[in-house]
Amino acid sequence: MKITRRLITEADTAAFGAELAVGLQPGMVVYLKGELGAGKTTLARGLLQALGVTERIKSPTYTLVEPYTVSSLYLYHFDFYRLRYPDEWVDAGFREYFNRDAVCLIEWPENAGGKLPAADVAVELKVDGEGRALSLHANTEAGTNCLRRLKT
Ligand SMILES: Nc1ncnc2c1ncn2[C@@H]1O[C@H](COP(=O)(O)OP(=O)(O)OP(=O)(O)O)[C@@H](O)[C@H]1O
Ligand SMILES: [Mg+2]
Repeated sequence: MKITRRLITEADTAAFGAELAVGLQPGMVVYLKGELGAGKTTLARGLLQALGVTERIKSPTYTLVEPYTVSSLYLYHFDFYRLRYPDEWVDAGFREYFNRDAVCLIEWPENAGGKLPAADVAVELKVDGEGRALSLHANTEAGTNCLRRLKT
């Protein structure tokens, strides 16, 4: 399943993140792809806030991951731009974050090696004039169900 959208402003990108949050289930993995400044963190911020995160959402650029907890749901926001080698995240002990009680959002998934779990939903953002072109792919049943819940 594939969906495309145009996101004109930064607020539109955050609002889309909130929309995507509605269909997420614990255990899901979301890849956030796109060049530097494409809006991946902006989308993640809208998504995490919609799920009830109230603390400030920082880019995980230097920490590789920022963890959040909302009642019994664990949310992990990864940014693998600065991985020094593909399995660095495994050696750092992050594999256990991919479990059925957690939703994982991953910026720069292409920098991680073959041990990275597959995406239920892959989001791609491209700079398009002043806005962004968004495309979404669902790769699993959970991902397809998530995209079905988006407004048309
Ligand atoms: N439609 C838009 N959606 C998202 N961001 C936009 C949009 N238009 C302009 N921007 C600007 O683009 C930048 C997006 O930054 P953001 O940190 O979300 O990107 P990123 O994809 O996470 O980059 P990085 O790869 O460095 O982590 C912000 O400065 C934001 O103000
Ligand atoms: Mg970012």
